[in-house]
Amino acid sequence: MHDLAVRGGMAVLGWAVVRCDIGVSGGRIATIAERIEDAAEVVRADGLLVLPGGVDTHCHIEEPFPEGGFQEESWESASRSAFAGGTTSVVAHTPQFKGGGLIEQHRAARGRAGRAMIDYGFHQIVADPSDAAMAEVPALVADGVGSLKAFLTYDALHLDDAGFLRVLQVARQNGLMVHVHCENYAAINLATRTLLAAGCTAPKYHAVSRPPVVEREATARAIALAELVGQPLHIFHVSCADVAEEIARAQARGLPVKGETCPQYFTLTADDMDRPGFEGAKFMCSPAPRTAADHEGIWGMLRRGVLDVVTSDHCGFSYEGDRGKAKNGRDAAFDAIPNGIPGLAARLPLVFSEGVSKGRIDLPAFARLVAENPARIANLYPRKGVIAVGSDADLVLWDPEREVTITNALMQHAIDYTPYEGMAVTGWPVVTIRRGEVVMRDGVVRAAPGSGQWLPRPSRPL
Ligand code: URP
Ligand code: ZN
Ligand code: ZN
Repeated sequence: MHDLAVRGGMAVLGWAVVRCDIGVSGGRIATIAERIEDAAEVVRADGLLVLPGGVDTHCHIEEPFPEGGFQEESWESASRSAFAGGTTSVVAHTPQFKGGGLIEQHRAARGRAGRAMIDYGFHQIVADPSDAAMAEVPALVADGVGSLKAFLTYDALHLDDAGFLRVLQVARQNGLMVHVHCENYAAINLATRTLLAAGCTAPKYHAVSRPPVVEREATARAIALAELVGQPLHIFHVSCADVAEEIARAQARGLPVKGETCPQYFTLTADDMDRPGFEGAKFMCSPAPRTAADHEGIWGMLRRGVLDVVTSDHCGFSYEGDRGKAKNGRDAAFDAIPNGIPGLAARLPLVFSEGVSKGRIDLPAFARLVAENPARIANLYPRKGVIAVGSDADLVLWDPEREVTITNALMQHAIDYTPYEGMAVTGWPVVTIRRGEVVMRDGVVRAAPGSGQWLPRPSRPL
């Protein structure tokens, strides 16, 4: 007897799209068969696709600020938003503050995530690779942290070459993946000072201060240093094909380098930051959104497999409020506006609509980009990211024909806006199942705070 059966849907099983039933026992997929009769609960999926639950390996949730306080997206609100959009697992970030350690922050982050409904893991940010901090890495590994995150820009976080090399070395010694934000810190600072001195302060100058070359240079440098150390590398939030070419060149040379992109890089442009007044701040993230032509470049790189993961880079900054975009006033210069935009719930609908509905990718590719490949890079596969016997029963029942106009209410996050407001999408999640439990049906999320599970991610010694 199964606990639950999903009946009559078209399931995406790796490369095959098959009409079948899926039986769940003890939170895992127990049976995939033409017909499953014995089930305590049945979820009808006629006319729907059955997809693996989304895996979003780049999120910022309830992160503390160096000056105190937390981002306003809590683990509970982020879980609601994730389920509303068909995502069932996330990997978020634990910060390190310069001069501080790792373990204390990690324990605190795990404590906050105790309220999660979604399953979760953490990347450990390294902002200060001191001997003392690096000595704490084995303890993180023992607790299931499978990756380090390095930033090559941002005042509070950036690493110089020596610092980045140290992170690469420690990661190699401990079998960890390194994820990296690639932009040239000095170049951005120079451009920012020049723009501000000329009175160019509006949100649109954010994009001018960090053009693609700034991202391309840092990407090439990060790859070269990882090659030197012999450390696999994952380049976060690639904004355009020009940057992805650096990854393609590394891959052609056989280097273990992979790349991620996010929906903002095929739906938004730098012009969005030129909306009237302070409105442009709603679209401000780093790297900056580029041009409409760059959207096609990103799709080309996704089809080639140079980029093979699409995450949200979900960032909990509202427009209003003392922690939001306008926290330094509506006339704040672009460099005083928090970077980052929310996108947890919008991710799957945007990739599906722009990708599958518009004929740019097929269904199996969609499932790989939003579920299987993120699970693989995070070392969560095959527990997560795939519909297979023995995997967690994380499933999304998806209506491929449903036409929806995105609104902030549909996102169900704690943030007071979505940068995708008013965008029309074709394809929408109607039921989300997490480890065999229906946690979202027709937009109504029902799950107990604290029901999310910590996802230990084993290290992979080289
Ligand atoms: O603008 C962004 N992306 N903010 C979030 C932090 C980061 O860079 O990933
Ligand atoms: Zn980043
Ligand atoms: Zn990020």
